[in-house]
Amino acid sequence: MYRRTYLEVNCDKLKNNIINIKQNYPDYEYYFGVVKGNAYGHGGYIINSLISGGVNYLAVSSLEEAIKLRQYNTEIPILVLEPIHLEFLDKCMKYNITITVSNMEYFRELITIELPKQIKIHVKLDTGMSRLGITNASDLNEILQKLPNNKNLYLEGLYTHFATSGINDKHWDNQLEKFKEITKDIDLSTIPIVHMGRSLTLVTHPKIPFCNGIRLGIVMYGMAQKMPVSRGFKAFLRNFRNNRNKKKLHISPTVTTNNLDLNTAITLYSEVMDIRKISANDFVGYGALFIAPKVMIIATVPIGYADGIPKKIKHVVINDKIYNVVGEVCMDMISVVVDENVNLYDKVTILGSDKLPIKKVANECGISSYTLFEGITNRVPRVYIEGDTTTEISY
Ligand SMILES: Cc1ncc(COP(=O)(O)O)c(C=O)c1O
Repeated sequence: MYRRTYLEVNCDKLKNNIINIKQNYPDYEYYFGVVKGNAYGHGGYIINSLISGGVNYLAVSSLEEAIKLRQYNTEIPILVLEPIHLEFLDKCMKYNITITVSNMEYFRELITIELPKQIKIHVKLDTGMSRLGITNASDLNEILQKLPNNKNLYLEGLYTHFATSGINDKHWDNQLEKFKEITKDIDLSTIPIVHMGRSLTLVTHPKIPFCNGIRLGIVMYGMAQKMPVSRGFKAFLRNFRNNRNKKKLHISPTVTTNNLDLNTAITLYSEVMDIRKISANDFVGYGALFIAPKVMIIATVPIGYADGIPKKIKHVVINDKIYNVVGEVCMDMISVVVDENVNLYDKVTILGSDKLPIKKVANECGISSYTLFEGITNRVPRVYIEGDTTTEISY
């Protein structure tokens, strides 16, 4: 790397997260690692750490993403969660990619195609998101009737996606019921993989009995929603309020809590590229939006929104101390008010340390941790830590 702005990814932490998840939830046969969006910003390189932790299927959004991952692992099955244009089925066969069937027009065309090699398909059901998926039992029955006529299409999976956590809403329960309704004529135990849940489903609800697969996204990267523990006066008040509201709000009877012990694995670093003393009433940055109220020391740090940092970022850490970001976040730089203890080329932590945990930074910036993870662009090289070794990759 030339510019010392980089994302450090600790692969050992990711592997341990998977081990911990599997220890807490050992009853699934298939643990899908959702690694779309460049593995939630971590980079495709991490897939072998996830696999060594116990992930045994991967899921991505596009054929491009799936093919890119093949450079790191040629064996692991990869499901593409969105339909792939049928003209590219040859690529799916070549790279051993599992496809999603999500509507009848697609299916009816698919079964007319002569395939030289087997393709695995997962049928997606629309149970309440109105994006993708088969919506009724008769369509699903047609798929199951016609599939055996095409010897190279293998129905490996059936799945849906939950829109909500289902903690304070009934939508989750309705989706579960809708899944049962669409599959009412099917013996689900004859389908090799049935997967409905994502991270929130795993950590906030008991296992759905007929599902043997779970799709792990944000939880693998170290974020787990903890249900509040019902102890202490505050919890008493919260329970009192919730009980009173139960008539109005739906609090799912299946809500659980969890004992997961997970860690986020990324730290975003940069350095002090320039440092200057400014006088009272001097301006900093575009739009002259920040006016120094007094003499100040400004450190210029080479990271900006082209690297994916949120425009509302407020703090960084230098030499273990928190400093304020001032002025507009530019495309390539930020300005930080520092003190005499900060020197040229000092390391700057932008997010991910104990003082700047992902969740806190996301909250401060008014975005989700998904957006924060995914935002880090490919301009930022990734440096992977595995035991004593480091590997630098530019995507
Ligand atoms: C179909 C599907 N399954 C699973 C996931 C993983 O979700 P999460 O990160 O909430 O676990 C996603 C993410 O958006 C998804 O689109």
